[in-house]
Amino acid sequence: MPINADGPQFRLDTDATSYWFRVSAFGHLEHVYYGPRLPGGPMEALALKHTATIGSTIAYDQSDLTYSLDVLPLEWSGSGYGDYRFAPIEARMPDGIFASDFAYVGHEIMPGSVGPQDGLPSAQGDPDACSTLRVDLVDEATGVRLELFWTVYDRADVITRRAVLINGATSSLTIRRLLSGMVDLPDRGFTMITFDGGWIKEAHRHDRVLAPGLSVNASTTGSSSNRHNPGFLLAERGATEDAGWVYGFNLIYSGNHLGAVELANHDLVRVGLGINDHCFEQTLAPGERFEAPEMIMTVSDAGLNGASHHFHDFINDHVVPRAWRHRPRPVLINSWEATFFDFTQKKLLALARQARDLGVELFVLDDGWFGKRDDDTAGLGDYDVNRKKLPNGLDGFGKQITDLGMGFGLWFEPEMVNEDSALFRAHPEWAVRAPGRRDTLGRNQLVLDLTNPDVQDYLIASVSRVLDEAPISYVKWDMNRHISVAYSPTLTEQGRFYHAYMLGLYRVLGAIFGPRPDILLETCSSGGNRFDLGMLCYGPQVWSSDDTDPVERLAIQGGLSYLYPPSCMGAHVSAAPHQQTLRPTPLSTRFNVAAFGVLGYELDLKNLGRLQLQEIREQIAFYKEHRDTLQFGRFSRLDARRPHQVGWQVVAPDGREAIAGFFQTLATASPGYDALRVVGLDPQRRYRVATRPQYLYLDRFGELIKHVLPVDLDPDGVVLRTAGKVYKLTDCVECYEGSGALLGAGVLLDNQFMGSNYNDQTRLLGDFGSSLYVIQEIDDEH
Ligand code: DGJ
Repeated sequence: MPINADGPQFRLDTDATSYWFRVSAFGHLEHVYYGPRLPGGPMEALALKHTATIGSTIAYDQSDLTYSLDVLPLEWSGSGYGDYRFAPIEARMPDGIFASDFAYVGHEIMPGSVGPQDGLPSAQGDPDACSTLRVDLVDEATGVRLELFWTVYDRADVITRRAVLINGATSSLTIRRLLSGMVDLPDRGFTMITFDGGWIKEAHRHDRVLAPGLSVNASTTGSSSNRHNPGFLLAERGATEDAGWVYGFNLIYSGNHLGAVELANHDLVRVGLGINDHCFEQTLAPGERFEAPEMIMTVSDAGLNGASHHFHDFINDHVVPRAWRHRPRPVLINSWEATFFDFTQKKLLALARQARDLGVELFVLDDGWFGKRDDDTAGLGDYDVNRKKLPNGLDGFGKQITDLGMGFGLWFEPEMVNEDSALFRAHPEWAVRAPGRRDTLGRNQLVLDLTNPDVQDYLIASVSRVLDEAPISYVKWDMNRHISVAYSPTLTEQGRFYHAYMLGLYRVLGAIFGPRPDILLETCSSGGNRFDLGMLCYGPQVWSSDDTDPVERLAIQGGLSYLYPPSCMGAHVSAAPHQQTLRPTPLSTRFNVAAFGVLGYELDLKNLGRLQLQEIREQIAFYKEHRDTLQFGRFSRLDARRPHQVGWQVVAPDGREAIAGFFQTLATASPGYDALRVVGLDPQRRYRVATRPQYLYLDRFGELIKHVLPVDLDPDGVVLRTAGKVYKLTDCVECYEGSGALLGAGVLLDNQFMGSNYNDQTRLLGDFGSSLYVIQEIDDEH
């Protein structure tokens, strides 16, 4: 039993972590310890001491002048009783006063997870995977009740938390903030690590050493946002990828979030996470309840990778829909960057056929298939197929795709409407806009009012109808603008808007995909504008970014990897020079980066030469051969030896193989040695390491081609350009053997190109070059 409640003390233990708290003499929940697993023992030694009276504090009770809430490590706090730190609750209580003081009245331990009642998504675990503790508290002055939940996932080493406020008084109360949970940790010289950005630059890692006061990680756009992902980490001073204590926090929610970290007086760090209080206000009549979404937390003494591993396992095992847990994801081709809005059935079928011949398993028809959708100014809302583009209808087209032996996937953007659409003309009142205020558009579109049950019902019916009329096995659910002028005529209290929108969206997603569990749902919001655990409860993968430039993706997928596993990240190979950065990158690097996610292709294949198509065919075969490792293996980031280098690796679930990626974003002249370190292998077993062979095109050499060829040819001339389409060299291939311990120490690799001479044992990486290494256990019997 991972939860041990002994009188007023609670010990929550996972396989590798312990979380302890107790009820104080005055009924508050006092946090005692969160860290690597402890064998047990008395709490007193670990508890923060308060033996002296501290000046400039408020005594909670005159009977003990050393007891001040401001300097106690707590599991929950209110306001008004001397705790001046950031409070997880701010409410006008039924007596009209902004003070609350919740004290313990009882608890219950339940097997398995216990989800919210109001339609919020949550993690799920059977009784053999987790147990739940509910602690009941009451604000004695008003009778308002608070239920706090901790669900303890033993093997995943994650604990989830949530809070439910119940108005047990006889008059109303108004919530202005109710976070999901909070905890006060002793400071360890923490750096807060957040994942921030914007469109085409999502989830870049940023580090800030905590300074006294509040550090905030929040979104106000209406979604979890590309500005600041809801997940963040606290790393102790000196922690690295593989060593040191690291705490991780994330939220199972897709709307405005607020993560607040306060380094307070007396070296305590308060961490709170939940719905953002921005424009939030909700009244609770007597007897009503409000549920905060579930937050998740973990800790590891094995550095940043350690915390990431806990999150990865937890998401794969307890967050994504059951039907997709550990289920291989198909290699897809997406029509968007190949055709944008400009396609015909013939064009699409040619693309699909070519992709099928290369080994692609799923064809995804992106934006532009319905209504008058020839650009982004019209059509959103009208999901009737455009017969000019698809004369056989969706059903007919879908069947042509499935007859090719591929799955058929379809794009929707159901939460939005264009003013130029039949839906808007019929129901202008369904768009989010306010009387007497200017309409504010984003990408020429308005948001549909998902707080309104009529709108929800319309979306459920219209999307379900399309899904049932064609052979669709995959949906891309897009959402391409932020919310502005948040107002709904159907809400009596506008402070409820943002949260009611999310509850409406969750209802719609549940009603559409709940009865169709085998449809693979990939969510998207202008790329990774809604990459969060809430969406992952409905669809197991998210389109990480519209930016598929592999160099950019090292930062984006690398950033996401701190919080989410590769199985959740849509990652595509697209054209070069890249459409957002104009950067020319080798096809090999585009694949090598995308291989550490759910692989797809998003480019017009008819523009590629024979060699490039052959290279793609080999990439897809390689990916399929190692799919289980790449999608569900243990992913780690490797501390890079030198600037402008990035190392990633995955170890197969059975530990018998690993794939490592060595990426170089900028070359240095005459560089020192490079090392390939592979971690997490069995130190005793023997492995073989081999470079995955990849193509080296003649144009990579420029003028140097003269030194490789016996004849003097113009590198830009027609002869070499033609030859470059037919001939290639094979990039340097290395092969080593050694124990897992040896590989963990680091294999020193062949030289990179040093500016003179070239042979086939020279690694020709240059700018944006990369290699994959396959590490396989040597079976001694053979
Ligand atoms: C934004 C998405 O991120 C893209 O992948 C594509 O689906 C476009 N929307 C289509 O409008």
